[in-house]
Amino acid sequence: MANGSARPCIVAGNWKMHKTTDEAVTFVQELAPQVEGSDVKVYLAVPFTAIHPVKEAAAGMDITVGAQNMNDAKEGAYTGEIGALMLQDVGAQFVILGHSERRQHYNESSAFINRKVLRAVSDGLQPILCVGESLDDRDEGGTELTLKAQLMECLAETTPEQLKNLIVAYEPIWAIGIGHTPTPQQVQEVHAFLRGLLKETWGDDVANNSVIQYGGSVKPANAKEILQLPDVDGVLVGGASLAADTFAQIINYQTLETTI
Ligand code: PGA
Repeated sequence: MANGSARPCIVAGNWKMHKTTDEAVTFVQELAPQVEGSDVKVYLAVPFTAIHPVKEAAAGMDITVGAQNMNDAKEGAYTGEIGALMLQDVGAQFVILGHSERRQHYNESSAFINRKVLRAVSDGLQPILCVGESLDDRDEGGTELTLKAQLMECLAETTPEQLKNLIVAYEPIWAIGIGHTPTPQQVQEVHAFLRGLLKETWGDDVANNSVIQYGGSVKPANAKEILQLPDVDGVLVGGASLAADTFAQIINYQTLETTI
């Protein structure tokens, strides 16, 4: 680990609503030779339709495939929804929950996300829980208050045992898809704050073992500086995960010369 911790470094791509199955498979074929032997763990959060094809294309490679959302119920009369067991059935091992685009466009509340987290851990999917403040929150000095409320509400009623594989992604809404990021100092402050909250509520093991990723306009030009911060254990990458070459550069950040 570049940041010296015992936690794995996880670089996750979030493709959002991009790529047909052919495009997804081509991406994996292009990515594989570029990241062979890397000690960074590579996660790909792909559209539902691409989970199985990507899993097959990545057979024998160290790529973990997951989804970008799921329903909180195990099964039932929920037209158009998808459950954790169905995702696992096609090869998903993790799921992104609480992404700000879902909170914004589909009115997902922290209470709903909490039910999804509980479902994911009880049905065996690793959650990547996203939290992030708006620009107004930050300007008004409310960053920590907002993040604390999101984290505590989304993880309500979870036990340390259920959180042993937790990934938290800190994604300031104002940095997503925009091109600019918080300063490294701002990122480190928030990550240390989030780790402190995990420690206070769930204890040392959860705090020390949880991977906390940064997300929002991560690209080859800023990945190295962000990934070397002591409480940053990975990144969640949107736009820059869509091209295999660019995503590979982020995975191979240790070889990058560029900084912010
Ligand atoms: P971005 O998206 O890298 O395109 O800013 C990150 C995300 O939304 O997960």
